[in-house]
Amino acid sequence: GILQCDASRSSMPADLARASTTDLLAELKRRMESPPKKNIILVGPPGSGKGTQAPLIKDKYKLCHLATGDLLRAAVAAGTEMGKAAKEVMEKGGLVSDEIVIGIIKDNISTPDCGNGFILDGFPRTVVQAEKLDGMLTSEGVGHIDHVIEFKVPDATLVERICGRLIHPASGRSYHEKFHPPKVAGKDDETGEPLVKRKDDNEETLTKRLDAFHKQTKPVVDYYAKQGLYSPVDADRKADSVSATIAAILAK
Ligand code: AP5
Repeated sequence: GILQCDASRSSMPADLARASTTDLLAELKRRMESPPKKNIILVGPPGSGKGTQAPLIKDKYKLCHLATGDLLRAAVAAGTEMGKAAKEVMEKGGLVSDEIVIGIIKDNISTPDCGNGFILDGFPRTVVQAEKLDGMLTSEGVGHIDHVIEFKVPDATLVERICGRLIHPASGRSYHEKFHPPKVAGKDDETGEPLVKRKDDNEETLTKRLDAFHKQTKPVVDYYAKQGLYSPVDADRKADSVSATIAAILAK
């Protein structure tokens, strides 16, 4: 029954007949309560591994994953008005207007998918976006930010990561020709669909994206550090070591 299948995680005696009614009720309550909501922000330069780690965190805590880059690329592919406005800026490595990205987050953050909490990946990227996000959390009644995790990687490492990256556009899964190759070359492991290279994944555009990151996103980190929400992670290590460090931060 419900009380027996998970006995290993509790301090209850193995023979439940020996437990008191009070203990049994407390145990039942513990198991039926949903896990606490988690609202997480991932910050880091292009290629630092945000898109690699986010799906793992999402599965573990049953969160929604809102990646502004992925949502913008979907709008570009669908040819919407927003997509048309974003396309050129993205291909040049600049930042899309705050108005567009804030609108995208607002449209998604209070959907049922985000009921257990959310992972924001690539947003906020400016202090204005961070302030607008705070206003949105209050007006939409979706709680507060719990953790802001910065992926720290030296710029030199990022070039190799970005230039070897392959993407499965439908799911956002990312691979690497050398560091994380798909099982069959050029095909997504789960669907077998073709993998593609992003248009902005070249050395020239990367330099501009890194520049934008250093200038505009660093102040975002300071904004959250002042609130005591910030944790840096050395992301210049194997992906599973990075995952382990993140898991320890989120367990706090
Ligand atoms: P966005 O899509 O957010 O791109 P980005 O920030 O440049 O980040 P990336 O997706 O390139 O990097 P990632 O950290 O996810 O790396 P990944 O895990 O894939 O934004 C694109 C554009 O959209 C922006 O330039 C801007 O124009 C616009 N935009 C988006 N949000 C905006 C906003 N809020 N405001 C304004 N404009 C906005 O990893 C990279 C590669 O490395 C992969 O191949 C992976 O397999 C490999 N890898 C990952 N981890 C490791 C590891 N530990 N060791 C070795 N290889 C690894």
